[in-house]
Amino acid sequence: MKILLTGASGFIGRHILRALEQAGHEVVPVSRRHGVDFKHMLTPEDWLPHLKEVEAVINSVGVIAETRGQTFDTLHHRAPAALFRACVMAGVPRVVQISALGADDQAITPYQLSKKAADDVLRSLPLEWFVLRPSLVYGEGGKSSAMFRFMASLPIIPLVGDGRQRIQPVHVSDVVATVLQCLPAASARRTLDVVGAYPLTFVDWLQSMRLEAGRKAAVTLPIPFSLIMATAHVGRFVVPMLHPDNLRMLQHGNTADVQSLANFLGRMPLSVEEAP
Ligand SMILES: NC(=O)c1ccc[n+]([C@@H]2O[C@H](COP(=O)([O-])OP(=O)(O)OC[C@H]3O[C@@H](n4cnc5c(N)ncnc54)[C@H](OP(=O)(O)O)[C@@H]3O)[C@@H](O)[C@H]2O)c1
Repeated sequence: MKILLTGASGFIGRHILRALEQAGHEVVPVSRRHGVDFKHMLTPEDWLPHLKEVEAVINSVGVIAETRGQTFDTLHHRAPAALFRACVMAGVPRVVQISALGADDQAITPYQLSKKAADDVLRSLPLEWFVLRPSLVYGEGGKSSAMFRFMASLPIIPLVGDGRQRIQPVHVSDVVATVLQCLPAASARRTLDVVGAYPLTFVDWLQSMRLEAGRKAAVTLPIPFSLIMATAHVGRFVVPMLHPDNLRMLQHGNTADVQSLANFLGRMPLSVEEAP
C-alpha cells in the first residue's frame, strides 16, 4: 500500500515507519524534517498534492506541551482535521489517527481536548477510520522513557506525591502492531484504547525498571503534589513534560480496559515485565 505517515520523524512515527517499510509498504513521510510544517497545512487543499495515489493515512504528529508557534489547536486539531477532510476529497479510504488516552468525554486538559476535537472530526467523516488512544508509550527512542529510566536509576527516587498514580504503559511495539493491524482490518470505524497488559502504580513501574537493570529497590522521596505543581510553572520550561497539565493528567491516572485491544490484536499486549 502507499501510506502517508505524519510524525514520521518522531518516537512512535519512526517505529511505525520501520515496520511499514519492513512489511513492504511505500511510505510518504511527513514532518518538518521532511519539509512539511502543520502550521501551513490548515486547509484540505494544502494536503491534496500529498495524497496522490495514497491508500491510507496514519497521523502521528503531536506535542506534549505548547511552545511559541506550536499550538495544540494547530497541531492536534486544525491541521489533522484538514488532512482528514482532504482524504474524503481525494478518495483515500482509510485513516489511522494516533490520539491519546483520556481524549474522551471526561477530557480535562487542552492537550486531551485538542486531540478529541480532531478525533471527533474524523469520526464524523465517511472514511474507514481508527482512533487509537495510547496510554504512556515506552520503548527505544522515547523521551519520556529515557526520563523515567533516569529517575529509576537514582539512588533516591523522587515521586510525584505518593507515587501511587495508576498507569498502564504500553510498549511501542504494541502501538506499532495495532497500527499495522488497522490497515487490513475489516472492522473499521473504531476507537481503541491502546494500553499495556495491566495497570500498576508509577512507583512500582520505576522500581521494576531498577530490578530489571539488576539493581535493588531504591528509597523513595515523595514530594507533595502542591509543591511539584508550584515548581512545575518554572520546570515546564526546562522539561516540557513537567507542565502542570501533564502532572494533573498523571495524578488523575492513565488506565483503561485492555480487553478490546487484546481482541483486536488476537493476543494480550506486553506487560512491563515482558517488554524488551
Ligand atoms: N509518547 C507517548 O507516550 C504518547 C502517548 C499517547 C499519545 N501519543 C501521541 O502519539 C503521537 C506521536 O507522539 P511521539 O511520542 O512520537 O512524539 P514525538 O517523538 O515528539 O514526535 C512528534 C512528531 O510530530 C512532528 N511534528 C511536530 N511539530 C510538527 C509540525 N509543526 N509540523 C509537522 N510535524 C510536526 C515531529 O517531527 P518534526 O519535529 O521533524 O516536525 C515528530 O515527527 C502524538 O500525537 C502524541 O500525542 C504519544
